[in-house]
Amino acid sequence: MNTISFSIKYEAYDDINELSETDRMLCEKAKEALKTSHSPYSKFKVGTAVLLADGQLVLGSNQENVAYPSGLCAERVALFTVGANYHGAVIKAMAITAFTENFNIENPVTSCGACLQTMAEFEKMQNEPIDVLFYCINGKIIKVNGVKSLLPFVFVEDRLES
Ligand code: THU
Repeated sequence: MNTISFSIKYEAYDDINELSETDRMLCEKAKEALKTSHSPYSKFKVGTAVLLADGQLVLGSNQENVAYPSGLCAERVALFTVGANYHGAVIKAMAITAFTENFNIENPVTSCGACLQTMAEFEKMQNEPIDVLFYCINGKIIKVNGVKSLLPFVFVEDRLES
């Protein structure tokens, strides 16, 4: 038996003004996307902004449903919009933010496993990592280069594609 450990690298910021202009803009757009959240059940709004290599932006927000499992997270709404409407486009970066009136969100909200797995699929398709920024409206930001550091045991099975 071997015990194996790994570590991940990420960037941590305390203020949105520490970011590059592009990253700052992406975080602001994710915040803008909160406006379209349909979250009457959780009252927890999530917004995502995706930056394509050609500079186009695609926004997404969580879309809930009275049949709870029928809803979808903001990240996947945005990513599937890219897949459906900008097919083959390369994704450079994406930003995610959240807001609720019910409590104070003190730290960046990170993505659920299903959304990370979906990000990984897009990285596989484009063979390039995606910068992911988790933006807390109080200013704190976590940034990773590539989803693999967030999901080290990502599901992969290349033979399913042949
Ligand atoms: N949610 C997201 O939009 N992204 C995530 O990565 C996790 C959770 C949404 C789903 C649901 O509408 C609300 O947040 C509360 O779970």
